Amino acid sequence: MTPPRKLHIKSYGCQMNVYDAQRMVDTLQPEGFVETASAEDADLVILNTCHIREKASEKVYSELGRLRLAKDEAARGGRTMRIAVAGCVAQAEGEEIVARAPVVDIVVGPQSYHHLPDLLKRAGGGERAIATEFPADDKFGYLAKPKPETIRARGVSAFVTVQEGCDKFCTFCVVPYTRGSEMSRPVGRIVDEIRDLTENGVREITLIGQNVNAYHGEGPDGRSWTLGRLLYRLAEIPGLARIRYSTSHPNDVDDSLIAAHRDLPALMPFIHLPVQSGSDRILAAMNRKHRAIDYHKVIDRFRAARQDIAFSSDFIVGFPGETEEDFRATLALVAQIGYAAAYSFKYSPRPGTPAAEIRETVSLSEMDARLERLQALIDSQQSAFNKAAIGTVVDVLFERPARNPGQIVGRTAYLQPAHVMASPDIIGQVLPIRIDSLERYSLLGELASPAAPQNTQAAASPVIIGA
Ligand code: SAH
Ligand code: SF4
Ligand code: F3S
Repeated sequence: MTPPRKLHIKSYGCQMNVYDAQRMVDTLQPEGFVETASAEDADLVILNTCHIREKASEKVYSELGRLRLAKDEAARGGRTMRIAVAGCVAQAEGEEIVARAPVVDIVVGPQSYHHLPDLLKRAGGGERAIATEFPADDKFGYLAKPKPETIRARGVSAFVTVQEGCDKFCTFCVVPYTRGSEMSRPVGRIVDEIRDLTENGVREITLIGQNVNAYHGEGPDGRSWTLGRLLYRLAEIPGLARIRYSTSHPNDVDDSLIAAHRDLPALMPFIHLPVQSGSDRILAAMNRKHRAIDYHKVIDRFRAARQDIAFSSDFIVGFPGETEEDFRATLALVAQIGYAAAYSFKYSPRPGTPAAEIRETVSLSEMDARLERLQALIDSQQSAFNKAAIGTVVDVLFERPARNPGQIVGRTAYLQPAHVMASPDIIGQVLPIRIDSLERYSLLGELASPAAPQNTQAAASPVIIGA
């Protein structure tokens, strides 16, 4: 038998890259690959890249520089190391990568991962293989399934892509060019995938998509289903304790989604709803197609449906032409909404996007200053939100042993990490925790009641396992 070949994948960027990396592993396992933690001893290294900001994108080339040394070293030892660039930089730059980095054997865009085995064969024949065709030839149809033991090893919380691509064309953003136009997976395939996951220990699913609430997949009735309708269906899957979705666009929030938050206890009351700016002038220049007031109205609809709902957002500071007054409108919006968390970024001009052509730019020092002011406000809101949990009892889904011996870590409904001293048996369970204190962003507490056995039948007839 030939020894297994070793595969190392390094992912940058968003949750979809995390999910895609797992699908690449699942696709390459039947080809005899096993995962390895270090690039140096791998036979195939895949850089799963992100193009969203210049910094993310440039990381690829410094990483390729390091890999060139590792590849040379492997060659000296008589071993062939192949290097593939996947993800959004692969899609955006394609041939350019091959020209700029001779070390690269394969370039594969996000819609072509099911071609990896074939690309590897072509690379084995001495070709530099590129696959970046758009649109996918039924990418979703060819997604490889993970093995049961692989699912178990990955833990209790999993991502599932339900939608890919974006038709919104915000003027700063590369995603419509790297992930293509919106596509939704059919309901049946999503349900099957999640059933497989829950049968193997997964308790929480985050449905992901660049614009997840634009979901319009085909239902079993042959009609197009909304995300809200899909959520009702998924809530029926046995064993699925928690459902989340990310990322949403404020313009695609329909009544079925609001109703799902009202009706489904498994749907977590925490929504990532990027607004980018609080200035209507900048929102128009960004082609967001909503004003600040429209965003407030969407937030109000969610809050009316479920009182304990909390929000996070993304912000860009220093978009071309952003004045102090525009920036203050962003601060005012944040002050008014009150976020549980938020991400903020300095504007980064991206090749091929309309905003990159605007001459009226904001200076780097001004951008830095604005970022600092915005982050201070967001931080104070996040701290207040976390502090409010102290003294209360909250449900936590336990995920894994923490770094401190004896501690187990899980997450609250709002994705706050929560630590307790407990037996690892609680991993995979949702249990009430009394929160005692806060350490940076982590909640510390104790089980509010002794960890109850998962079902009463087992408690009634004790079975000694392993005796
Ligand atoms: N809807 C997408 C957004 C992806 S990009 C999703 O699924 O997450 C994530 C965030 O990066 C955006 O919300 C935006 O705030 C930020 N971003 C995108 N392009 C950017 C750019 N050119 N410069 C700075 N930040 C950017
Ligand atoms: Fe990018 Fe805008 Fe689409 Fe989000 S909605 S992925 S920011 S173009
Ligand atoms: Fe980056 Fe592509 Fe995701 S650009 S944020 S990896 S969709």
